[in-house]
Amino acid sequence: MKKNRLVIVGAGSTYTLGMVMSLIAEKENFPLQSLTFYDTDAERQNRVALATKVILAEQYPELETFNYTTSKQEAFQNIDVAFIQIRTGGLAMREMDEKIPLSYGVVGQETCGPGGMAYGLRSIKDMIELVNDIRQFAPEAWILNYTNPAAIVADALQRIFPNDQKILNICDMPIAIMHSYADMLDKDVWDLVPSYFGLNHFGWFTKIEDKSGQDLTELIKDKMIKEGFKPTDNEIANDESWQKTFAQARQMLIDFPDYLPNTYLQYYLYPNQLAQKEQIDNTRARQVINGRQKRVHQLCEQITADQSTANVELEVDVHGIYMVKAAASLIYNLNEIYIVMVENKGVISNIPEDAMVEVPALLTVNGLKPLAVGQIPTFHKGLIEGQLAYEKLVVDAYFEGSYSKALQALTLNRTVVNADTARSILNDLIEANQGYWPTLK
Ligand code: NAD
Ligand code: G6P
Ligand code: MN
Repeated sequence: MKKNRLVIVGAGSTYTLGMVMSLIAEKENFPLQSLTFYDTDAERQNRVALATKVILAEQYPELETFNYTTSKQEAFQNIDVAFIQIRTGGLAMREMDEKIPLSYGVVGQETCGPGGMAYGLRSIKDMIELVNDIRQFAPEAWILNYTNPAAIVADALQRIFPNDQKILNICDMPIAIMHSYADMLDKDVWDLVPSYFGLNHFGWFTKIEDKSGQDLTELIKDKMIKEGFKPTDNEIANDESWQKTFAQARQMLIDFPDYLPNTYLQYYLYPNQLAQKEQIDNTRARQVINGRQKRVHQLCEQITADQSTANVELEVDVHGIYMVKAAASLIYNLNEIYIVMVENKGVISNIPEDAMVEVPALLTVNGLKPLAVGQIPTFHKGLIEGQLAYEKLVVDAYFEGSYSKALQALTLNRTVVNADTARSILNDLIEANQGYWPTLK
């Protein structure tokens, strides 16, 4: 089996340790020849890299090389695969994205509503630059991207690299939700076969079967209504904010029982309720800074100090495993089905061809082969078309430097609606994002 040379871009991320554990757990299915870390922030990366060295020495002694660098050339030459997970502006800017809309009574969220637009207008530039740089040194490498807001990033990349068949944008939310279905049914998550349609963070499961063909959809719906819904993947199971988010999925199913919702739909279906529940001085960014980030940093520091993992608990999570399994399916032509983002081109037959949709696709060595969805019902079509127009306008605003497109985008977004509120939020976001956003005229 050919061994892979992998670079993790944004290796200072809070998710990198989980990814390393996933690479170890999957080393038989996705063996590595070399692992390289790349980040623009040397200090952030060093912390994770020093711990990773210890972990790899213990649990992946057969790995030939592990490097970490802030040089793109060193990082990207001779690679087969890049996993990207960057956050332009860091968690400090995420906090601004969440606080500014909230100060107007509007949902403040990483990827949904004005926060998602703000983050998108920051991410696009770095992501285009990274893809160009990777292509300069590794024209044939697979690029698997987690960077958010994935819908907006995917649309922007599709416009700039329309013929590049080796860029894959993915999200772990559908698989994290399936993890909870699997636990509800006492099944293995990889035994579930989803039918799903939508945009990133904006979709529905229409059916869940197991590999033997048994349809489990009604059973899942029944259980969710009767017993509620909980996150069960390691990364989020004990997080109060995620517990509330999963609980809200039950209400969505009661209100709209046709399909099983992606948890992110809560921000669009109950925007007022969600905005009211949030606390401006303790938004999700603050919780992550004081929670996940602190936990990961302490974990790294302890491993490095001990030069051992004996005193810590390291776990794989579905986030890392999903990326690794997707890469294996592409590289070894496994033809496995994963929910990913892909250009619509008729997959959902009654929405625009150029939408970046999120649907199940076969992951093959020749690229993605999405499974046909066909026509979707009026309610879902209406919601998707509104959200799609918002996403397209955000990307237009970026490339055209257009204030009016950004204002249109926010006004269209279900979390905002009022043009006067949209204008106030936009003006504050422009102020906060100086140096990150293009000038909007
Ligand atoms: P983080 O801030 O902890 O880590 C991001 C890292 O990227 C930092 O170390 C930072 O220095 C680095 N970075 C920033 N700009 C860079 C650039 N241009 N080149 C190289 N490195 C750069 O963030 P996090 O919370 O761990 O999340 C990482 C990313 O993954 C975010 O975009 C987040 O939204 C995304 N994410 C996506 C999914 C998904 O479902 N698609 C799931 C989880 C996280
Ligand atoms: C899920 C989503 C990601 C998002 C992450 C945020 O995994 O799919 O797109 O980045 O949650 O989680 P957080 O815990 O940082 O709010
Ligand atoms: Mn996601």
